Amino acid sequence: MVMNNANRLKELNGRVQWHPMTHPNKSVNQPPLIMVKGDGAFVEDIDGNRYVDGLGGLWNVNVGHNRAEVKQAIVEQMEKICYYSSFDGMATAPSIELAARILEIAGPEDMAKVFFSSGGSDAVESALKLSRQYWKLMGQPEKTKFVSLKQGYHGVHMGGVSINGSPAFRGTYAPLLPGCFQIDTPWLYRNPWTEDPEELGRICAAQLDRLLEFEGGNTVAAFIAEPVQGAGGVIVPPANYWPLIREVCDRHNVLLIADEVVTGFGRSGSMFGSRGWGVKPDILCLAKGITSGYVPLGATVLNKRIAAAWDADNSFTGVIMHGYTYSGHPVACAAALACLDIVEKEDLPANAAKQGARLLAGLKPLEQSARAVGEVRGKGLMLAVDLVADKKTRAPINPQDGFADRIAEQARRFGAIVRPVGTKLILSPVLVIKDEEVDLLVSALTKAFEVCDA
Ligand SMILES: Cc1ncc(COP(=O)(O)O)c(C=O)c1O
Repeated sequence: MVMNNANRLKELNGRVQWHPMTHPNKSVNQPPLIMVKGDGAFVEDIDGNRYVDGLGGLWNVNVGHNRAEVKQAIVEQMEKICYYSSFDGMATAPSIELAARILEIAGPEDMAKVFFSSGGSDAVESALKLSRQYWKLMGQPEKTKFVSLKQGYHGVHMGGVSINGSPAFRGTYAPLLPGCFQIDTPWLYRNPWTEDPEELGRICAAQLDRLLEFEGGNTVAAFIAEPVQGAGGVIVPPANYWPLIREVCDRHNVLLIADEVVTGFGRSGSMFGSRGWGVKPDILCLAKGITSGYVPLGATVLNKRIAAAWDADNSFTGVIMHGYTYSGHPVACAAALACLDIVEKEDLPANAAKQGARLLAGLKPLEQSARAVGEVRGKGLMLAVDLVADKKTRAPINPQDGFADRIAEQARRFGAIVRPVGTKLILSPVLVIKDEEVDLLVSALTKAFEVCDA
């Protein structure tokens, strides 16, 4: 029997490719969706099925699929030069323009320098290493430890894994870096203390205070967190949390790193998630939305206080012995410049806030109508449907039951891609999404629950 091309690729994939975040054997029996086309908020698979992309790629295709302006910028750059290095003594024009543009956008945060890489894990790794280097330049080489949040996700490099707050990412790759500590995340739906957001914000910020007191702030380089936790389940902190965290970091002289790999450039409804909380971090980690995924790129952005330490130094300690072949890749930077034009011209942070509110309002009724939905929560276009075995105790469903997978599968039948993550479903559509596309997502997910949750 002659296989069609779709079936050939599915079968071949199982034999030749390992995929992130899954057991290799799974893709043999359950071939992946092979995506072949994208257009705005929609994608199409190799079997000709069209879906609203409720994932926005992987929280990253903010400007929508297949934008002519971005493709044109990529081609124009490729016609000039496809690659050159940014190592010692070299640069390309788009990387310079993009660094200046990012600093202009991050002007309110007092940012001063940009260090490029190839993605979010790189941006985090660079932030961790540069923060240690900063303290060495400041004459405090013993400040090396990192504090982060449980449920936090900071990518997959050894530094990121060591500060990740989910055991799922950690155990298999142990031993991890010493000197990394995780404190409780301010999670209103699941915490042992209170239902009052303000009180929760104070309790969790006090944990950081006590840990820094105990460890000695003079041994800690930085606290790192996502302004809205993404992969951990879209956990939105109380409004007082980030301002309190900033105060605690300042009191102990510890740097504050905002991992804005997901929230950067509008997803949570403001240009940066930390800006939404009224806080200026010392370092921003950016990736994903910076190029909307058209070409990989990461950026670590450092404020004036940090840059000043380098300005005052000419020693070897100040040499940045860190970097990637693809730091400042000219094609990626050209794509980013085109994407940032769209982010600003079309005010994507405002559309994320508006459409995020519509999506949240559309899905909230599931809390009543669906037996397994404990909470629907979100901020901007980051949403999670929290699945429970018991609504009263809020005990999560058993992730091994595969319920989230079944819902996602049904949602696809009704024309929408959503992401099953253990005990949650996650939605993070493109930031250019329109009313009727949001409504399609709501209707597909509602129907999926009607089928699976009766
Ligand atoms: C907050 C956060 N940081 C870092 C990363 C890692 O980014 P990448 O997968 O591009 O390495 C992610 C990826 O989802 C993320 O959500």
